[in-house]
Amino acid sequence: MSASAPVQPGNLLLAVAGGIAAYKIPELVRQLRRAGHAVRCVLTEAGGEFVSPLVLQTLSGAPVRSSLFDSGEEGEISHIELADWADLVVVAPATANRIAKLAQGLADDLVGTLLLATRAPVLLVPAMNVNMWSHPATRANAGLLRERGVHFEGPESGELACGWEGEGRMAEPGTIAGRVAILLGGETWKGVRVLVSAGGTREPIDAVRSIANRSSGKMGFAVAEEAARRGAEVVLVAGPCALPTPPGVRRLDVETALEMAAAVEHEFETCQVAVMAAAVADFRPANASLAKIKKEDLAPGAAPRIDLVQNPDILAGISATRGERVVVGFAAESHDLVEAARRKLARKGCDLLVANDISRVDAGFDTDSNAVTFVSPGGEVDELPLLPKVEVAARILDRVEKLREGPR
Ligand code: PMT
Repeated sequence: MSASAPVQPGNLLLAVAGGIAAYKIPELVRQLRRAGHAVRCVLTEAGGEFVSPLVLQTLSGAPVRSSLFDSGEEGEISHIELADWADLVVVAPATANRIAKLAQGLADDLVGTLLLATRAPVLLVPAMNVNMWSHPATRANAGLLRERGVHFEGPESGELACGWEGEGRMAEPGTIAGRVAILLGGETWKGVRVLVSAGGTREPIDAVRSIANRSSGKMGFAVAEEAARRGAEVVLVAGPCALPTPPGVRRLDVETALEMAAAVEHEFETCQVAVMAAAVADFRPANASLAKIKKEDLAPGAAPRIDLVQNPDILAGISATRGERVVVGFAAESHDLVEAARRKLARKGCDLLVANDISRVDAGFDTDSNAVTFVSPGGEVDELPLLPKVEVAARILDRVEKLREGPR
């Protein structure tokens, strides 16, 4: 069920654009071939400046195409045949220019034409200068492509060839090959039932007022969507939120923590994996009024007294009874992230805690990206860079795969 499990071989069309990270492509081709895939490489004009067609042809065992109008190349295999042949198209390195062209639908060269003509999924592996990656134009183009279902791997943070430090490094060949295995594997989670909680709960004070929080549901919905894409049977227990239900997901809408607890406990009985991304209210008003509390009914200047009682800890409850099932919890922390997460993990007793750094404006509640650190019961800590929530979801499920395969 993972990248390390037997890989489903497929037809990979690898488009190489012009960036210094192209030096890693021959190694990527070797790894993809070793995994059993058929690989055909195409080069953009700039890509050909960084890696030789002869190297790629030798390693892939197939002719390399670089021109749309070369009659010899087109006679060998037409660009439409190539687009149809692919089970997956990978663009690595994906430059800012290539991402912009695809976002705009430009087909002014071979790679642009293939990307529009193919019906296969597309994986972009960006590599560029940190400022180019964080430029609003590149962010907007990447966002648009993600909305259209294009997959991204990376970029990673670190030292860049241009001398800058930050996000922009191309993912390593092993990481790309792992993602390819997952994307080609398709239904690798078939037969697995996954329970996801998402959104915030709403605890009524009276007929119109409630205690709520800023959770938009985006993180949990991304996990549900990714699990369904991998072929799992997914049930999503969602607090009040306006997000559309991901394709293939069964959604149960709840409002309060008590309703969420009842739904989660019931569904957990038949699930093998639970990912609890909801922001559950720890307390609720002890006596919610069925009518609206009116100011006129109180003494002048007085405020109503609202007594709170504790809600059940849903995550701790299912963790205690999980047996062989894998349970993942979240933690929203504003400081001492790792220490606070370790304490929470010990209290909740789950298999993995995903700690969000909510002190950042681009992570945590109601954002499209998240900065998370995985904390394991054995004490291991794995800090991920800022990533779109869809990619955080993929990383969480990759972790779950490992937990299901190996000893805990
Ligand atoms: O929905 P988004 O806008 O995308 O935001 C995502 C998120 C920030 C809400 C999400 O990534 C996240 O961190 N969810 C957990 C937030 C939270 O309430 O953390 P906590 O530290 O209070 O709870 C820790 C864990 O216990 C969570 O898995 C929570 O679901 C669970 N819990 C908490 C209280 C409770 N009574 N029962 C629970 O099961």
